[in-house]
Amino acid sequence: MHMQEEKCRFWESLPEQITGEESNPQKSLFRHKETGIYYRIHRIPTGKGGESIEIDQITDIHFNFCNDKDLQNEELADTVQCRKWLAGAASVQGIRNALQMAKYADQIVITGDTLDYLSEGAMDLTRKEIWDVFPETLICLGGHELTREMQTGKPDKEPLEARRAVLESFWKHNMYYTSRVLGNKVIVCAMDNSCGKYLPCIAERLREDIRLARENGWILLLFQHEPIDTGRPEDEACPTLWECDGKVYNFRKCIGSADRNTDEPTAEVLSLIRENADIVRGIYCGHLHSAYYTEIPAYYTENGERKETVIPQYVLEGNPYNGQSGHVLRIIVE
Ligand SMILES: [Fe+2]
Repeated sequence: MHMQEEKCRFWESLPEQITGEESNPQKSLFRHKETGIYYRIHRIPTGKGGESIEIDQITDIHFNFCNDKDLQNEELADTVQCRKWLAGAASVQGIRNALQMAKYADQIVITGDTLDYLSEGAMDLTRKEIWDVFPETLICLGGHELTREMQTGKPDKEPLEARRAVLESFWKHNMYYTSRVLGNKVIVCAMDNSCGKYLPCIAERLREDIRLARENGWILLLFQHEPIDTGRPEDEACPTLWECDGKVYNFRKCIGSADRNTDEPTAEVLSLIRENADIVRGIYCGHLHSAYYTEIPAYYTENGERKETVIPQYVLEGNPYNGQSGHVLRIIVE
């Protein structure tokens, strides 16, 4: 069957609405009846006309698996004894399910914690289940990729730079910052903030992409593992839209919060985001494992005048929850 026909057939199955109201699509969550996949939708009108571009986000897959070679490594042998969640590559079913929906998108982005910890087994699964099937998939780093010690209570033996080097030689694209233009409409940026901050290499590249987007009349969407501080007192106890792993989260304790000792490169990236809200139209994260919707107060300058607005920040629930059904955020740039 032709891909387009197959896609139409896939979407003939009307969804069940799990939570939210039609008047509030940002806070609505659906379930595809035929496959059981949970999904949310963010529609972004650009006024450019033509075909819509769809970008599907998946997050926090947590491949927990060691192959025979991994088990020769003392740290990983220890981790296998301690880390029981999703052990034995249980997440494979979940990502296969989610990709049944995401395969119809123009771009797939995975926002971190694809590996539950740094093992050859988990990297093999990432290659086999994701990049071998959909080579253009962008994958952000999460915090879990950077450690071999999971629930062992011990610090990593190798320094962070050595662990990063292992990942760098495996990653299919620049794992700190990769951007892509889709359909003469949108730049998709997959950025690293896995250590709770932005590395010095990010600001310059983001500044250039914002400039390029403005010059060409495109919008820009940011994908990263951790959410950023909303700056809003009411978000100190932001309720989840739909519980997976947590109920309430404090969005004043995220990247950029007053008590996080924000370094200069991080502050620069945050300023770029907040000052260019006419271009930066969405931030998509994982990390919290439950479903949240927040807004970042932001602005842009038009004819020398400052215009206040907000940037939507979506936190997608972790993919393995609800029996490995799969969880997808569909971003439709119209
Ligand atoms: Fe995670």
